[in-house]
Parts: sequence; structure tokens; C-alpha cells
Amino acid sequence: MHKPRILIARAIFPEVVERLSQHFEVEANPQDVVWTLPELLARLADKDGLLSTGSQRIDSELMAVCPRLKIVANMAVGYNNFDIEAMTAAGVQGTNTPDVLTETTADFGFALLLAAARRVSEAEHYLRAGQWQSWRYDLFAGAEVHGSTLGIIGMGRIGQGIAQRGALGFGMEVIYHNRTPLEPAVEAQCQARYVGKEMLLRSADHVLLVLPYTAESHHTIGAPELALMKPTATLVNIARGGIVDDAALAHALRTRQIAAAGLDVFEDEPAVHPDLLALTNVVLTPHIASATVTTRLAMANLAADNLIAFFAGRGALTPVNRVVD
Ligand code: GLV
Repeated sequence: MHKPRILIARAIFPEVVERLSQHFEVEANPQDVVWTLPELLARLADKDGLLSTGSQRIDSELMAVCPRLKIVANMAVGYNNFDIEAMTAAGVQGTNTPDVLTETTADFGFALLLAAARRVSEAEHYLRAGQWQSWRYDLFAGAEVHGSTLGIIGMGRIGQGIAQRGALGFGMEVIYHNRTPLEPAVEAQCQARYVGKEMLLRSADHVLLVLPYTAESHHTIGAPELALMKPTATLVNIARGGIVDDAALAHALRTRQIAAAGLDVFEDEPAVHPDLLALTNVVLTPHIASATVTTRLAMANLAADNLIAFFAGRGALTPVNRVVD
């Protein structure tokens, strides 16, 4: 019997490619070429499965020219790149990589919060540019993090990890907003209090966004929301581009409507809004919140495990849709 054929769309750890090769006929991309859509489709047309990143759109146009495709394993927890309805209708299983990245991503949320509030990137650029002449009382004086109020929008696993870091590690008062409030026991564990979105934006010293991107969460933070925030506030987005209106944020940062921001994700990534690039009070990172070697390896292995379990007839380990035969 032929082994199922798998396409690995981007470079991943060689040991994971090797593991997949024991189960499948694998076409990999060790040079990490970012294929155009026609180039990807040409390779995917005869494949049964795809291991992909969260930035590859999987929709009916793609599936129409890949009739053998049965599963797409995202190496990401977010799966807004999936047209879930179209995939389910076409009988294509989608999977993601939850849990293995929770704590690492929560760490990075805090890294961006600290960097933005305490002006770390801005200060380093100043130093490297040879501008540091002497100690000054207000040199890069930023906002307090410990003991301040942390507002989290999106209280899934990563949001809860950030809440615990804030409450337990930094003595912060943690408020959150979510589609539905957490169970009281989980709230107590996170030491977090549910509030309405407007109340959160008005009261928080630092606002962290960790919600999934959907049609409803598009521009959760735009000009009206930024206008509610404190002029000393920090905004951090480690969720998805599109949750923040980047042009409105750049305007709010330029006019000091809010003090600072930390962004790991962008509306049109890898392109970054030019107005953001021109500002010093925003820390910009290239979508790396889950990027430790350990976690990225765990994500690649989980994506691989999903493919292996699925084709062995055991069912995907972390499915995001329910496909019936
Ligand atoms: C990264 O953004 C992910 O969803 O894992």
C-alpha cells in the first residue's frame, strides 16, 4: 500500500521531517522558500496532507484544486487562516497546536509589556546611537508595571497564564474581558475580576490582547477604544493582526493619547504599517511570541503527531473541526 503523501510547506526541525518520513512520502521545503500560491498549489495538488503555518489561507479555492487533501495540520494555536466551514464541508480535517505554547507565549506577553512600559527598545536604540551623555532624572522614565492594573482581553489559556504572572509575580490587580466570564474557581486561580470592555479600557494601566481573530474581534481596538484608555497606558497585542486598527493605534501613539505599545502581530504582516515604523514608543517584534526552541519543537511535533494519528485512523489529537466520513 502507498504511504500517504504529505507536504511540509515551510522549513521545520529536520528531526520532525525525519519522523514524518517514516510514516509518509514527504515533500519538504528545507530551503524555506516562501512559495507563491500557484507554487504551493502545484505541490499540494497530489498530496493527502499538509503541515502548514498559521499564515497559509485554507479555503474552498485551495481545496478545489487539491482533491486528495484530507488534513491540514497548523503549526500554530490560532487557526483563523482556516475557512472552517469550507474545510468541514469538503471533509478536510484541521488541527492546531494548543497547550504546548501557553506558558512560553504568556512569558512573551510579559516581555513586550515590560519592554513597552519601561521603554527598553527605545533606550537601547538611543544608547547604540551614541546619544547617551550622562545620567538624567527622567531619562526614559516609563510607567510602573508592578502593583498597576492589568487588563486582559481574551481569557483563554494564554490570557490566564498572563493573569497569573501579573497577580502572583508583579502584584498587579488583574481585570479581564472575555466572551463569557470564567468559572469562579478559575477566576480565583488567576486572581482576576471580570469587567465590561469599556470599564477595562478606562481602568487598566496596561491592556493585553490575547483573543482569537474572528469577524467579531476585527478591530476590537480602534480609535474609539483608544480614546477610552489612559494617556499613561500601554497596549500589547500578541493575538493577531486585525484585532487592532494599526493606523488608529499609530495615530494614538503619535499624539500621546496612549503612552506606548508592544506589537508582535500586524494587520498586513509581514508588512508593518509605515506610521508604526516611524514611532519610537512602540516595540515591534516579528510574530515570535511562541518562539523558544523547546516550544517550537513541541509545536512541530504536535502537528506531526496529528498527521500520524489521523492517517493511522486514530483521529487527530487536537482537531478544530468535526469531519464526518
Ligand atoms: C501563533 O501565532 C499561533 O497561533 O500559534
